[in-house]
Amino acid sequence: MKINNRRYIGCKTKLLDFIYDSVERYNISKDSVFADIFAGTGVVAYRFALEGYKTILNDTLFSNYVIYKTIFNNEIMRIDLLKNEINYFNSIDSDSLKANYFSNTYGGKYYSFDNAKKIGFIRDYIEENKQKYNEREYYYLITCLLYACDKIANTVGHFESYLHSAPKGEKLMLEEFEMNSNLPESYIYNEDANNLAKKINADIVYIDPPYNARQYVNFYHVLENLARWNKPTEFEGKSMKFKRDNLKSDYCRSKAPLLFEDLIQSLKCKLIVVSYNNTYNAKSVSSNNTISEDQIIEILSKKGNVTIKTIDYSAFNAGKTDLKNHKEYLYICEVF
Ligand SMILES: C[S@@+](CC[C@H](N)C(=O)[O-])C[C@H]1O[C@@H](n2cnc3c(N)ncnc32)[C@H](O)[C@@H]1O
Repeated sequence: MKINNRRYIGCKTKLLDFIYDSVERYNISKDSVFADIFAGTGVVAYRFALEGYKTILNDTLFSNYVIYKTIFNNEIMRIDLLKNEINYFNSIDSDSLKANYFSNTYGGKYYSFDNAKKIGFIRDYIEENKQKYNEREYYYLITCLLYACDKIANTVGHFESYLHSAPKGEKLMLEEFEMNSNLPESYIYNEDANNLAKKINADIVYIDPPYNARQYVNFYHVLENLARWNKPTEFEGKSMKFKRDNLKSDYCRSKAPLLFEDLIQSLKCKLIVVSYNNTYNAKSVSSNNTISEDQIIEILSKKGNVTIKTIDYSAFNAGKTDLKNHKEYLYICEVF
């Protein structure tokens, strides 16, 4: 399993060369600090870490934080212990398991009852045996579970809702994670990017906020609940979303331009790199951008000299939105 083996809306895996090459031209030394403050899967920071940059990663979703704490941490892990745990998890016969929190909540919806029982059992086991693991080993096992759950979910790729047809019997299988043990130092956060911007120092700050009104916590609520594991009992609607107002992003609301301005003004760095795409005119209102191109340029221009780079790319498309001439933008601001 690798960092990019998950389905994540807005993931920049296919744009990594474009982003890296665009930044490299500015000749910022490779032992400087690259901050990815809306890091999602973490693939952009990972690319820069592989090139030698120290990294800062941040996201408001705890399910993403868990993954960064596994991949970007340098704590020594006992590989044999982890292999044994994963073999044990994969050998469990779900017929021997009782119903549990996860199967009662999501069984028959996002997962078959058998898989849901197994997922809930494994997550409880990791928590109950926490004292057996060091911090990275603990996050590693949760990470393996999250990736395995993403793979077999009865969805179109995110958890906004589950498919009408019953979950198929594809078995849950945890895979070992491919790790690079020589990544430069990294600093990992799980907080609002605007708060973080006020307290970090970085050389390059990469900004890839949500593009529209669609909340990431709605897309990934099942994984978020599994990562947090505080077992809320109140859910909304058929899609079983737990109460999550505190996890909703204001970047998905009309105040996004104000927040973006506050963010940019707070940053202490040499280069600001902003990803964005032109989903304006999408048929669904919730797909319209909350910040316009003009607003981005105006706000960045107060902070430094701005260069715009573009590349054609197909937008995430769940059926409703059929965008022609879709482009991905990078706004690069050399801070005054
Ligand atoms: C477009 S995605 C980033 C994708 C990422 N670049 C990748 O390649 O996977 C935006 C991310 O911002 C996070 N987010 C939303 N609002 C945030 C906030 N106020 N502070 C920090 N992260 C936030 C979301 O959870 C989501 O993971």
